Amino acid sequence: MTLLSVLHFPDKRLRIVAKPVNKITSEIKQTTKDMLETMYKEHGIGLAAIQVNIHKRIIVIDVSKEGDQPIVLINPLITTQSGEEESEEGCLSVPETKANIKRSEFVTVQFIDLEGKDKEIQADGLLAICIQHELDHLEGRLFIDYLSKLKQKRIYTRLEKNQRINQNLKE
Ligand code: NI
Repeated sequence: MTLLSVLHFPDKRLRIVAKPVNKITSEIKQTTKDMLETMYKEHGIGLAAIQVNIHKRIIVIDVSKEGDQPIVLINPLITTQSGEEESEEGCLSVPETKANIKRSEFVTVQFIDLEGKDKEIQADGLLAICIQHELDHLEGRLFIDYLSKLKQKRIYTRLEKNQRINQNLKE
């Protein structure tokens, strides 16, 4: 397995719309293993392939306390959503940033699993929020896009500066 490096905002590659997976190949399976390993290592509860610069519609999620209930969703699609709830979100691609975001309380998501079978999950609570957050990534959307322009600007300025410092350290 390989640890993948996670892209950080304002990297423009986080804005690319991900393409559907046509076939579950061994390469796709390996990608999901690497994504899960990377997500656990970074203490995340969800990761979209786009965040590791793979522009395919693949997400991995594990909202369990023990980190032993991984879910892999390929070509996920939210088919129903209802209710509304607000909760604090963060993102491995937006370091050291938390914000309250409004999402649907209940969602139904259809996807294909690693065996190529059609699956459906009805989710609420943290899982529902995580699914919506990760599906946004596939469209090139970040949770901070829902904030006011002023807040977005502050985050941009802070993280862009960090990125420049990291870049200089590498050179
Ligand atoms: Ni995220």
